[in-house]
Amino acid sequence: MEITKDIKYVGVNDHDIDLFEGHYIVPEGMAYNSYAICDEKIAIMDSVDGNFTEQWFANIKKELGDKEPDYIVVQHMEPDHSGSLIAFMNEFKDAKVVSSAKAFTMMNNFFGECFEGRRVEVKEGDKLELGTHTLCFVAAPMVHWPEVIMTYDEKDKVLFSADAFGKFGALDVCGETGADDDDWACEARRYYFGIVGKYGMQAQAVLKKAAGLDIQTICPLHGPVLKEDLGYYLDLYNTWTTYGAETKGVVIAYTSVYGNTKKAVEMLAAKLEEKGVPKVAVTDLARDDIAEAVEDAFRYDTIVFATTTFNNDIFPFMKEFINSLTERNFQNKRMGFIENGSWAPQAMKVMKGMLEGCKNMTCLENEVSILSGVSAENEAQIEAMAEELAAAYK
Ligand code: FEO
Repeated sequence: MEITKDIKYVGVNDHDIDLFEGHYIVPEGMAYNSYAICDEKIAIMDSVDGNFTEQWFANIKKELGDKEPDYIVVQHMEPDHSGSLIAFMNEFKDAKVVSSAKAFTMMNNFFGECFEGRRVEVKEGDKLELGTHTLCFVAAPMVHWPEVIMTYDEKDKVLFSADAFGKFGALDVCGETGADDDDWACEARRYYFGIVGKYGMQAQAVLKKAAGLDIQTICPLHGPVLKEDLGYYLDLYNTWTTYGAETKGVVIAYTSVYGNTKKAVEMLAAKLEEKGVPKVAVTDLARDDIAEAVEDAFRYDTIVFATTTFNNDIFPFMKEFINSLTERNFQNKRMGFIENGSWAPQAMKVMKGMLEGCKNMTCLENEVSILSGVSAENEAQIEAMAEELAAAYK
């Protein structure tokens, strides 16, 4: 695939993976993107997962013919991108590695090798001349590891954005240019909040630097190359990195052991829809993808947590869910609680305690406390909670 006249796509698609980063389901596979910038000197932008080395070499050789790369730029050392680096350096004996100081330390830690005599260490503001193309390096610490650099090609106005602006999904499913990806945001949001969400402040700092660049194309390390309507993607990233609410509406995240808490949740969801709340999403934390639930929690302006008391604590799936939120700096939400407990309800107190360190959270006045089955009193509590929420959207 041609990105510009001089920049070619040489990445690979992975349909064998079960869990990306040992954690995330990827039903549509995963792309490990790599690019060749062909000028008087040739630079390859990042390697690929170690299971795809031969396919990556074939893609490089197809684009370069009998030429050989002069540089490999390592923007990020996570093994989905650095897994073929050693093989590359063995295959192309004259090539040099261009990377940050921290990345060279990581190379030593991963491989016991940091390429003495074949390394070009770069930092914020450094440039690499390839001929007509000049690569400018932008430090992007914690997006998503500390060693990360992004790279801006001044000539073609391309930002190589490392993990930022990536998404789950192989390119032979979601489209190489994003043009036939009619819901980029869905899997990009799950990817962002799962992988980078904790580091919103650092990602925001990089976006501010990027705002000073004239960018016509974004080449991420995962997902499609972004060319059209870049303002759409930048605006979404601005919302996500500042923990802003993207969508007005309520997500109800619940666990239910025997169906009583679920019944309360379904009653609330139906009432919210009846009363015209703009969007209502419901997720069963024991059965649905937790990364999808995390994504929705960050997406909507309001969340209702509903769970049972369990071992004088809360049900394990809810515990994992709330931990997944708080470790990602969950903030800026309206939130409500539904608890269930047959003899000593504790869930509301435990959930509130887990969330008390989150910034700028507003609790609903109305709460629902169930003692096993949903009583008439509980129905009145649910009605009051629904009324309070509906009023918030008027
Ligand atoms: Fe795609 Fe942080 O690795």
